[in-house]
Amino acid sequence: MSDVDYTALIPNNVDLASDQRLKRALEDWYPKYIKWWKASGPVGFQDNEVYLRTAVGVDAEGWAKFGYVKMPEYRWGILLAPQEEGRKIAFGRHKGEPVWQEVPGEYRSMLRRLIVIQGDTEPASVEQQRYLGATAPSLYDMRNLFQVNVEEGRHLWAMVYLLQKYFGRDGREEAEDLLLRTSGDADKPRILGAFNEETPDWLSFFMFTTFTDRDGKMQLESLATSGFDPLARTTRFMLTEEGHHMFVGRTGVERVIQRTCEVMKEHGVTDPADKDVRKYGVIDLATIQKKINFHYSG
Ligand SMILES: [Fe+2]
Ligand SMILES: [Fe+2]
Repeated sequence: MSDVDYTALIPNNVDLASDQRLKRALEDWYPKYIKWWKASGPVGFQDNEVYLRTAVGVDAEGWAKFGYVKMPEYRWGILLAPQEEGRKIAFGRHKGEPVWQEVPGEYRSMLRRLIVIQGDTEPASVEQQRYLGATAPSLYDMRNLFQVNVEEGRHLWAMVYLLQKYFGRDGREEAEDLLLRTSGDADKPRILGAFNEETPDWLSFFMFTTFTDRDGKMQLESLATSGFDPLARTTRFMLTEEGHHMFVGRTGVERVIQRTCEVMKEHGVTDPADKDVRKYGVIDLATIQKKINFHYSG
């Protein structure tokens, strides 16, 4: 599409340079992804240098390279956990058989569906969180937000890789569609309900990264045991990043509660539902509890 060799920029351990078909598919997809990122990713801050962690390899050396980068120039990589020699399917009808390196015909549409649904959640959360930069409580929080955002972007890449590499033409079409659905859109919403909800404030963001990412991690843990080995290896590497997302959530919720308790103590407030604490810039404990209940049951 242009003389820029986009694929040369992609950190990968899938021998992208010698896979012409995949290279072509990604070359076609990359500019569309960037267009999506600019239109639907974080509002503002796209020209700012952000101190971000980039994964350029899966080993201890490569998985966390820190440096200043403008988000649209982030190097989203395609990285799979190392192949386990002699791995066998652990569950179900095919238990004990060698894992599949290609998609078995009988499970093709089911696997494609699973990958599409997983892939769809990743850009969806970036869309949900796109306005939060403007109200970040601190630079520390803002950096965490953008780190989570670029990594969710990379998780989309991980699923797009599988679709383009293993699912032929319909996989390539699904990869395009992942950029066409939009969180909360009336006509073309994201696939799962939770990813069409609003994330209007930072407490919601912390709840999202505590609970929705925990749910996501559970899904990934189960995909990491898949009999389709490339899916298992891709998701295993994604899990290394998911831990940080949940850390952002859990410590965020903790800090919010901590601050409310401090303010209550300072001003002699004893009723957890006393909304008067709001005048000191914090949220009452009863409201926080309600949010937790909502996410926990939803
Ligand atoms: Fe993710
Ligand atoms: Fe996540």
